Amino acid sequence: MSGYPAVPEGIAFGGDYNPEQWPREVQEEDVRLMREAGVNLVSLGIFAWALMEPREGGYEFDWLDTIVDRLHGAGISVNLGTPTTVPPAWFSRAYPDAFPVTREGVRVGAGARQHACSSHPAFRAASARLAERLAERYGDHPAVVMWHVHNEYGAPLGECYCPSSTAAWRSWLRHRHGSLEALNTAWGTAFWGQHYGEWEEIDAPRWSHTVVNPAQRLDYARFANEEHLSHYRAQRDILRRTGKPVTTNFAGTVSCKSMDLWRWAPELDVIANDHYLNGEQPDNHIQLAMSADLSRSLAGGQPWMLMEHSTGAISWQARGIAKRPGEMRRNSLAHVARGSDSVLFFQWRASRYGAEKWHSAMVPHAGTGSRLWRDVVALGADVRRLAPVRGGRVAAEVAIVWDWESYWALELEWRPSGDLAFRERVDAFYEALWREHVTVDFVHPSADISGYRVVLAPSSYLLTETSAKNLRRYVEAGGHLLVSFFSGVVDENDTVHEGPCPGALRDVLGLSVEEFHPLRERETVTLTGGATGRIWSERVHLGQARALQCFADGPDAGHPALTVHPFGAGTASYLAAALHGAGLRAVLTDLLDRAGVSRPRDLPDTLELVRRDRYAFLINHGPTPANVPAMTGTDLLTGAPFPGQVPAGGVAVVELDRRTP
Ligand code: GLA
Repeated sequence: MSGYPAVPEGIAFGGDYNPEQWPREVQEEDVRLMREAGVNLVSLGIFAWALMEPREGGYEFDWLDTIVDRLHGAGISVNLGTPTTVPPAWFSRAYPDAFPVTREGVRVGAGARQHACSSHPAFRAASARLAERLAERYGDHPAVVMWHVHNEYGAPLGECYCPSSTAAWRSWLRHRHGSLEALNTAWGTAFWGQHYGEWEEIDAPRWSHTVVNPAQRLDYARFANEEHLSHYRAQRDILRRTGKPVTTNFAGTVSCKSMDLWRWAPELDVIANDHYLNGEQPDNHIQLAMSADLSRSLAGGQPWMLMEHSTGAISWQARGIAKRPGEMRRNSLAHVARGSDSVLFFQWRASRYGAEKWHSAMVPHAGTGSRLWRDVVALGADVRRLAPVRGGRVAAEVAIVWDWESYWALELEWRPSGDLAFRERVDAFYEALWREHVTVDFVHPSADISGYRVVLAPSSYLLTETSAKNLRRYVEAGGHLLVSFFSGVVDENDTVHEGPCPGALRDVLGLSVEEFHPLRERETVTLTGGATGRIWSERVHLGQARALQCFADGPDAGHPALTVHPFGAGTASYLAAALHGAGLRAVLTDLLDRAGVSRPRDLPDTLELVRRDRYAFLINHGPTPANVPAMTGTDLLTGAPFPGQVPAGGVAVVELDRRTP
C-alpha cells in the first residue's frame, strides 16, 4: 500500500501537538486557535509513552481519546505517533541493558530521549505491543488519517555498541558475507594482521586509539541502518493492518548522515521530512531547496510531507535565530513548490518547561498578540489558497548522484585530504544549479537515470561496479555525465578499484589519474578559464578524452583540469578541481547548454523558480523586486493576474496560462 493520507482538503497545515503538557482549558483554547489558523492536521502522541503505558502492560488511553475526539469535533485530522522514541522510566529501570552505548563506550543516560537500542529484544517487544494497542484502539477512528512511527530514527545516535547490537551484528555479518573467508577478503584483513578465524572473534568497530578497519566501519554503518529499519518495519506492519498510511519522519534528508534513506524510502507509505534551517548560514534557503528536492526524489516524484520545520528559533542550534519577516512564508512555500503537500511545524504551542521551551512554535510564549501568530494565521490562509497544487508533480532534467554509502566511506579517516567532505562538493554543485533556476532530482548511482539530460556525480568516492556500469550505459545511450575528482575510486568495501584511479570510471571518462596533489589549507589553484579551486589538484593523463581547460598554476600546471569524452551517443566530463560559485557555474552552464537543458534566462539569481505541474512558484529571496516579464497567469495567492514582478521577499504562485511556454 502507498499513498498520501486522507487529509480533508488541500495542503495539510499544522504540526506536532503535545497537549499532555497543558491543562484542559489550554487544550480547548488550542483547538479554537487551530481553527482560526486553518490547521487541518496535527501529529499527536510522539512523546507520550509514559502516559499511554504508565506501568508495564498497564495501558491508559482515556486521556488520548478525549483529545482525539475533541480534534475530530473541530474537523482536525490526526497523524498518530507511536512514542517509542521515549521509553518510560519503568522501562529503563526494568531493562538497564537496553540503554544505547556510543562508539567510545559511553552508556547513554535517561532523562532525555532516544535512550533505547533498536536491537534490544525487550525494546522491540514493548514497541510492538504498544503499536498493537494503538492500532486496535484508533485504527477505525475517523480523525486518525495516518501513523507516525517513532521519531527521527538515527538522530542523534545512528550506531549503538551495546551487547545486543554486537550479537545482532555478528548474525548480520554471517548473512551479508556468508563465510569468514569472504568476510576476511571483503575487509582486507590481510592488512595489519586482522584475520578472523571465528565469528565470535569479531567485535563492533569500537573507538580505538588509531584508525579501525574502514571496511568494518562501513559494514557497521550499514548494519546500524538496518537495525533501525527493522525496528520501524515491525511497527509499520502492525499499523498497516488498519489500512491507513504509515510513515516515519526523517531527521533531515540532507543532514541525517547515519541513515541510508534510499533503503528507507520504499518502506514508507509517504515520505516525511523534518527540515531545520541553519540560522547562521547565508542563503540557507538553498540548503532548504536541496533538502526538499532530496525528499521528493526519495518519494520517487510523488508528493511528500514536510513533517516538521520551525516558525523561528531552533533551540538545539547555538543561537536561536528568529526568522525575518516573510521568511517563514518563503520557507514553507518553497517546500510546497518542490513537492510537499504539507506545511507542518514543530510544535503547535511553545512549551513552558523542558528541553525545548526556547524553541519557536506556532503559538509563541508571547501569545496571539504577536507578529508570529499573525504570520501563522496568514500562512494558513496562503496554504488554503494552494489547495489546487496538491498532488502536482515537479519535473527535473538534471540529476545529482547522492549515495549515503559514499557519504559514509568518504568521511572515514585518513583520506588523501582532510578537506574532502561529501556535502562540500554536492552543495557547491547544487547551489550553482539553484542559481541557474534548474530543478534537480537526486538519484542513487544504480537507479534508472535514462530520463535525465544531465547527471552530475560530485562526490561519488565509493562506486560499485554495478553503479559504474549504470553510468556508463547512461552515457552510451546519449546522456551527459559530469564527474568530480576523487569519484569512482573505491568499491563497496572501500577497496581501491584495480589500476589507476578512477578505476570504475576510467573507460567512460577516457582518462586516468597518476597522482593526487591535495592543496594546503589556504592554497588555491587557477584554471586556464580563470576559475579558482581549493582543496585539490591532481595529475590527469588523457586517454580518449580531450582537455577543455588545464591547471594554469599549482602542482599540475599545464595538465588537464576539465575534460570531455564523447562516448557512445553521449559525453562524459571530468572536473579535477574544486571550483565554487561563478567558476563552477560557468562549467555547469556550458554543459547544460550542450545537453539542451531548458531554463529561464535573465532572471536574478536570488529568485527561486520551480514549476509544479502548471503552477510556477516564484520566491524572491533578494532585497529588490524581481521582474519576470515573460510569465502570464493568475497568482493563486492573490487571485489576481500576475503583474510580472515579485516584490522583495515575496512569493507568487502563478497558474500559468497557455501563453507561457
Ligand atoms: C526534531 C524533533 C522534534 C523537535 C525538533 C526541534 O526534528 O523531531 O521532536 O525536537 O527537532 O527542532
